[in-house]
Amino acid sequence: MNIKNSYCFLISVLFLCFSLNTYLTYGADTISANRPLSGSQTVVSSGGNVELGFFNPGNSSNFYIGMWYKKVSLQTIVWVANQDRPISDKFSSELTILQGNLVLLNESGTPIWSTNLNSTTSNSSVAVLLDDGNLVLRETPNSSEPIWQSFDYPTNTWLPGMKIAYNKRTKTKQLLTSWKNQENPAPGLFSLELDPFGSQYIIKWNKTEQYWTSGRWNGQIFSLVPEMRLNYIYNFSYVDNENESYFTYSLYNPQTISRFIMDVSGQVKQLTWLDPSKSWNLFWSQPRQQCEVYAFCGAFGTCNQNSMPFCSCVKGFKPRSDHDWNLSDYSGGCVRETGLQCGNTSAGNGKRDRFWVQNQMGLPQYPQSVAVGSAAECESTCLNNCSCNAYAYDSSGCSIWDLDLLNLQQLSQGDSGKTIYIKLNASEFPSSKNKMRIIIGAVVGSVVVVLVALSLVWVVIQRQRRRLVSSAKAGEGSLVAFGYKDLQTATKNFSEKLGGGGFGSVFKGTLPDSTVIAVKRLESISQGEKQFRTEVSTIGAVQHVNLVRLRGFCSEGDKKLLVYDYMPNGSLESHLLHDEDSKVLDWKTRYQIALGTARGLAYLHEKCRDCIIHCDIKPENILLDAEFCPKVADFGLAKLVGRDFSRVLTTMRGTRGYLAPEWISGVAITAKADVYSYGMMLFEFISGRRNSEQSEDGKVKFFPTWAASVTIEGGDVLSLLDHRLDGIAELEEVTRMCRVACWCIQEDENRRPSMGQVVQILEGVLDVNLPPIPRSLQLFIENQEHIVFFTESSSAPTDPSNASSQSKSTISSRSSKS
Ligand SMILES: *[C@@H]1O[C@H](CO)[C@@H](O)[C@H](O)[C@H]1NC(C)=O
Ligand SMILES: *[C@@H]1O[C@H](CO)[C@@H](O)[C@H](O)[C@H]1NC(C)=O
Ligand SMILES: *[C@@H]1O[C@H](CO)[C@@H](O)[C@H](O)[C@H]1NC(C)=O
Ligand SMILES: *[C@@H]1O[C@H](CO)[C@@H](O)[C@H](O)[C@H]1NC(C)=O
Ligand SMILES: *[C@@H]1O[C@H](CO)[C@@H](O)[C@H](O)[C@H]1NC(C)=O
Ligand SMILES: *[C@@H]1O[C@H](CO)[C@@H](O)[C@H](O)[C@H]1NC(C)=O
Ligand SMILES: *[C@@H]1O[C@H](CO)[C@@H](O)[C@H](O)[C@H]1NC(C)=O
Ligand SMILES: *[C@@H]1O[C@H](CO)[C@@H](O)[C@H](O)[C@H]1NC(C)=O
Ligand SMILES: *[C@@H]1O[C@H](CO)[C@@H](O)[C@H](O)[C@H]1NC(C)=O
Ligand SMILES: *[C@@H]1O[C@H](CO)[C@@H](O)[C@H](O)[C@H]1NC(C)=O
Ligand SMILES: *[C@@H]1O[C@H](CO)[C@@H](O)[C@H](O)[C@H]1NC(C)=O
Ligand SMILES: *[C@@H]1O[C@H](CO)[C@@H](O)[C@H](O)[C@H]1NC(C)=O
Repeated sequence: MNIKNSYCFLISVLFLCFSLNTYLTYGADTISANRPLSGSQTVVSSGGNVELGFFNPGNSSNFYIGMWYKKVSLQTIVWVANQDRPISDKFSSELTILQGNLVLLNESGTPIWSTNLNSTTSNSSVAVLLDDGNLVLRETPNSSEPIWQSFDYPTNTWLPGMKIAYNKRTKTKQLLTSWKNQENPAPGLFSLELDPFGSQYIIKWNKTEQYWTSGRWNGQIFSLVPEMRLNYIYNFSYVDNENESYFTYSLYNPQTISRFIMDVSGQVKQLTWLDPSKSWNLFWSQPRQQCEVYAFCGAFGTCNQNSMPFCSCVKGFKPRSDHDWNLSDYSGGCVRETGLQCGNTSAGNGKRDRFWVQNQMGLPQYPQSVAVGSAAECESTCLNNCSCNAYAYDSSGCSIWDLDLLNLQQLSQGDSGKTIYIKLNASEFPSSKNKMRIIIGAVVGSVVVVLVALSLVWVVIQRQRRRLVSSAKAGEGSLVAFGYKDLQTATKNFSEKLGGGGFGSVFKGTLPDSTVIAVKRLESISQGEKQFRTEVSTIGAVQHVNLVRLRGFCSEGDKKLLVYDYMPNGSLESHLLHDEDSKVLDWKTRYQIALGTARGLAYLHEKCRDCIIHCDIKPENILLDAEFCPKVADFGLAKLVGRDFSRVLTTMRGTRGYLAPEWISGVAITAKADVYSYGMMLFEFISGRRNSEQSEDGKVKFFPTWAASVTIEGGDVLSLLDHRLDGIAELEEVTRMCRVACWCIQEDENRRPSMGQVVQILEGVLDVNLPPIPRSLQLFIENQEHIVFFTESSSAPTDPSNASSQSKSTISSRSSKS
């Protein structure tokens, strides 16, 4: 009994000690010789921001030592120690201090990763995980200077405080490298580096081929990343001294969880954690198009920007590794399914190799030109040379390729694609006998099939027509489902273009009953059929005198079109912003348009069943009917295209002067984002020119900044007025509009009025106080010399030489003006 009792006691003491011990290990931020890390143990930084321990990426069974955000519920790895030497059993492996170094021992006790310092053998070294995500090794627990830090060895993530650097003494680079794929953190092919000869970033493939550049740093922004102008999160700085040059950044708001990554897609991405939606919000990535990434689809892979997945193998080829291909890692490229005969007529059935014709292609890099006079000679040159893989022949002559084909791209109709001829074993082509049989079979079969199908189609059409008519009666939206052919006819094959918005081009058309319509051909709709119809019927149900009416739609395969009422007076932009020859909009009309627009938006935000955020308020999207009554266009489309921020930003290229700061900072978007854009637009009602334009005296002056200071200091608001109005305007109304505009563009969205309140203020029902100065404008004041808004040409060019000349011209035109 006694023995048993004391035995129990001993056990419980042991257990207590053990759990106390694990408790101590868990939660502490330090690894030491006495306190190694193994199994599921982790260390957590003192403020609870980051955690370090073993992890396995995706479905991989390999384990790595990694660091992730403690406060982010989706495990997000920001640093990896043993990138290319995984272990398979985390419980018998150990991260510990050995002779002063931090060392990872594998299952058999062999060091497979180490901090590799010779300078120290101290037993009292400790590794401490800091709150900013830096793992530092200190010679003694009390020493302040680390002898090693993980910030000097970035993997794919650039955390605030880290450097992307070039060491001038050792001539080495500290760079970001993509993971090989989502399941393998070993260094991949893409890297973000600092250009040692210029203050800019470059992205390279396999450390050799440069395919994107940020343009030079001018102290405020990178010249080819103008969207940084509206950057409220990152405080970038560039340091250049005799030892090194580097970029680093901090966050204006340290609470923001934000990271830069060199992604496996070959794009550099900026993401911000949105806690309410528990997701990473992508708001910037470059290069914009996946197919601009060098050799993204590997050798003999074809990149197609409009297909999912982007990569496929050329005819006659198959992925080198199905496993990697399944993980969206296309870098291995494709290999021939059947070897080339290569003039060896004694083998196989003695057939010579043939050429597969591929049209509408972007041709591969590094062709060799051959001086021959005809397509036939070009073909035979390639056929007779065993190492030749493909040829192309056009007005510029004959090109052949004898290496791997990289950067082959399938272009869409309308792009100037070329034809390439790819050499394949004859067995890859359907034999002509089979072809005959197929043709005969097809002819006989199709006669029968066509007859059956025709009758079926007729039945279906009849039914659908009946259903359409009944639904048109039932639903208040009464949307008409148009056939593509009908719209093609109505628009004379899309010949009269009215404009090209962010979501697609608009064409004028006339229905058989001579109603004039505007047809919007949507681009890049990722939604399925059912979802598309749901969204469209939601939009169709929204009707208000200040909203453009949707009459119908067309959805046939990937052809998605929307049919609207035609607005004879076009957009506000053409009347307000460049009307050198036409009549100037008088003040009364402007005020009515501003009020009507506000009413339309208030309806969208507050009155219809689901709140619709427009997301793209700008003068181009305010249409005017015959009586100059404003109608807001393009609402509901942001949702149709999807909530992918980078895409929204892309579609808004060129109009970012209206974009609320929360689009950039990555907080959830509410209707107040529209209020901001509306406020920015109000300034243009007053000035009659784009906020982004320079004033006539050539001085760079950001109009909203000037207008806000005049308004707030109680100056003469009539002096702000479009001079073409000759001062003919209600002082009361101008004052009210100025004040509302200032309230609308407050940085804190809670301070911005709702659209409903804006309507009441403009109607004169609600009084409006003096607004505080918007903080975003203060930023503009600080940066005033450099205000350049974005033009289409500022999108990332693929050709770096072209890029630098563009940036130069931007800079020179700027300096000559200031
Ligand atoms: C892991 O495998 C499961 C099923 O095999 C799959 O559904 C899941 O998407 C995979 N996860 C990752 C990260 O690849
Ligand atoms: C540990 O690493 C050594 C050296 O790489 C290797 O020879 C050994 O097989 C590894 N042990 C296990 C269990 O994988
Ligand atoms: C560390 O020591 C080894 C041999 O002892 C030597 O080859 C290596 O260059 C040293 N490394 C450094 C960074 O001093
Ligand atoms: C380090 O520890 C080993 C054994 O644990 C001991 O023999 C050695 O003297 C220690 N060295 C120092 C510098 O403390
Ligand atoms: C480290 O600092 C603590 C107090 O800050 C002190 O008590 C301790 O003696 C120091 N240890 C060493 C090794 O210097
Ligand atoms: C990358 O470059 C290395 C040497 O520079 C070369 O051996 C390797 O084959 C290249 N990788 C690819 C995928 O071309
Ligand atoms: C931005 O960073 C620089 C250099 O690190 C610093 O001097 C400056 O105060 C920072 N600005 C803000 C607004 O945090
Ligand atoms: C450059 O390195 C030298 C030697 O390490 C050091 O003395 C000097 O302060 C460094 N210069 C700067 C600007 O950090
Ligand atoms: C790749 O994915 C396909 C379909 O999802 C599957 O059939 C195939 O087995 C996968 N291959 C590998 C190697 O994982
Ligand atoms: C031709 O094919 C035959 C049979 O496959 C093979 O034995 C021979 O080496 C090949 N000759 C050449 C030049 O490739
Ligand atoms: C080419 O295809 C033929 C069948 O048409 C086959 O017999 C031959 O082996 C193939 N050549 C090679 C090199 O695989
Ligand atoms: C085949 O083409 C390669 C590259 O153009 C060339 O070096 C080689 O001499 C050619 N071989 C023959 C037999 O023409």
